[in-house]
Amino acid sequence: MKEIAYIQWNDSYSVGYRFIDRQHKKLVDIVNTFYEAVKHGQEADLPYKILNRLTAYAEEHFRDEETAMELAGCPADMVEKHKAVHEELVKEIFKVAEKALTDNSAKALAETGDLLRRWLLEHILDEDMQYAPWVSKLKGPLVK
Ligand SMILES: [Fe+2]
Repeated sequence: MKEIAYIQWNDSYSVGYRFIDRQHKKLVDIVNTFYEAVKHGQEADLPYKILNRLTAYAEEHFRDEETAMELAGCPADMVEKHKAVHEELVKEIFKVAEKALTDNSAKALAETGDLLRRWLLEHILDEDMQYAPWVSKLKGPLVK
């Protein structure tokens, strides 16, 4: 089986607002925990449990991100577009988790690992960077 490389946080992933960066780092950590579980073949349902945790945390993160965009004064159409992207991302992660439930072969888990990498990095690098010029003006914790 092909070795899964952990995701390394890189400063180029920063959106310039520490509160959101911290959440992105936590998402990276959870994905890396998934890799760890697949690599070491611990309890069979562990990868699935980690996917559940990832889904729950991603949903929380997306809500915070939407609030941050609104507070930072991002244009309304940009916020709406980003919300739609989040909805798609949630659907995708649910699909991935469901697939992991029905097939926990090493091959399927490795494919899931690749998918999670793309899911997370493309979201942060392509989508989230669009709001960086606004959100990077925010300081301190997110006041909801
Ligand atoms: Fe994000």
